[in-house]
Amino acid sequence: MRTAVYPGSFDPVTLGHLDIIERSARIVDELVVGVLNNSSKNPLFSVEERVNMLEEVTLHLPNVRIEAFDGLLVDFAAKCHAGVAVRGLRAITDFEYELQMSQTNRIMCPELDTIFLTTDLKYAYLSSSIVREVAHYGGDISAFVPATIVERVFEKFVGENSFGGPET
Ligand code: PNS
Repeated sequence: MRTAVYPGSFDPVTLGHLDIIERSARIVDELVVGVLNNSSKNPLFSVEERVNMLEEVTLHLPNVRIEAFDGLLVDFAAKCHAGVAVRGLRAITDFEYELQMSQTNRIMCPELDTIFLTTDLKYAYLSSSIVREVAHYGGDISAFVPATIVERVFEKFVGENSFGGPET
């Protein structure tokens, strides 16, 4: 049985993430989406909220499960008995960071390989931080996130006037 992990912040999950999840789930037997419990990044959504949203939007995928994780990806992958980590590549700007991360992970854990799926062109521009920014200014985010997530993102900005976090 081939298990892969797909790690990320998912703050919030976008249609680009969902596309990578659906495509990876066709390649492996079991896909564990790992939601980083990254308190240092001051996320818009708590890790529980991010896990719940991902569970909702992947209900149609029987071989996908969602788990929160702390600490190193290599340890999370080992705990899941996963030999593969999946990452999406949007553009050349992603490449340097992704290469550094995958090489570091391989030094720490030679049994873990990273595979990259090129993002669907429809979502090549898309990031969670763009979604947060557009929502903050009251823009339409229905082309960026699954339909059930739209209201949840807006609810976060009621009475607020800042959008959070670095590009993810
Ligand atoms: O969605 P993101 O924020 O681009 O995901 C980044 C993530 C979660 C994949 C990365 O930060 C990560 O794996 N963090 C866990 C800590 C770790 O293992 N760091 C060493 C990798 S170089």
